[in-house]
Amino acid sequence: MTVIAVAGKGGTGKTLVSALLVNFISENTTSVLAVDADPDSNLPEALGVADEVRKTLGEIRELFQVSRDEMGTMNKEQWLEGKIYAEAICECPRYDLLVMGRPEGEGCYCFANSLLRGVLKRLMRHYEYIVIDTEAGLEHFSRKTIDSADYIIIVTDMSRKGLATARRIKELAKELKLNFREIYLVANRITSKEAENTIREFAYEEGIEILAVLPYDESVAEVDLRGEPVTAIDKDSEVYKKMKEVSNFILRLPVEAR
Ligand SMILES: Nc1ncnc2c1ncn2[C@@H]1O[C@H](COP(=O)(O)OP(=O)(O)O)[C@@H](O)[C@H]1O
Ligand SMILES: [Mg+2]
Repeated sequence: MTVIAVAGKGGTGKTLVSALLVNFISENTTSVLAVDADPDSNLPEALGVADEVRKTLGEIRELFQVSRDEMGTMNKEQWLEGKIYAEAICECPRYDLLVMGRPEGEGCYCFANSLLRGVLKRLMRHYEYIVIDTEAGLEHFSRKTIDSADYIIIVTDMSRKGLATARRIKELAKELKLNFREIYLVANRITSKEAENTIREFAYEEGIEILAVLPYDESVAEVDLRGEPVTAIDKDSEVYKKMKEVSNFILRLPVEAR
């Protein structure tokens, strides 16, 4: 399995990049799991499969929390695993999808989370590629619900804040010992050569390879406005073509058996 985590400041284009990665990678292998790990995100909508989503992982955790005492001697890990397979994993034609949902509410979720961690780890091993649309703070990684990422793709726009968040994510990924092999950068919604140069300088200083510089793209804005999935963007657009190249690059990266 190869885990690709897409991170970055909110609004930079994480969901766009994640959805296109899922789209292109799943054209090459049917063993893909898309994970929506940003409570603010809309990966199912971006992929055009929002109707397929039944329960989020967070909802199953809540259910577990309230029914735990009634389970008696029943194997709780098996219960969780069964529920996740039956109600949280959406089987779309070319890939599976898991929505993490909101973070836990009041109370102690340590037991539920520790069980979840084991179940998720086993579940993820069934897939060749796992693409995770994350949040800027990498919360699921810091709480260890998901414990590793092989490749981290940081998305930034041409704002200072976007770059500052990119730097913080890089530091966080090291602190959390995510065991990653490489961190890459995708610059998105870039409208000037000057901005591109600033980002290239930043990437050089940070020692991060840039996988793509994507322009502002009318067709992305249009599908968004029409409420269509991002996969419906113009096939001749720069964003489409460049993200296809990024996906091919990812598909050529070494795979490590875990
Ligand atoms: N290259 C682009 N050109 C035009 N609009 C874009 C581009 N990238 C993203 N957008 C728009 O910007 C908004 C935020 O993108 P999104 O992928 O949801 O960001 P994030 O997941 O990081 O919050 C969306 O409305 C999206 O349609
Ligand atoms: Mg998003």
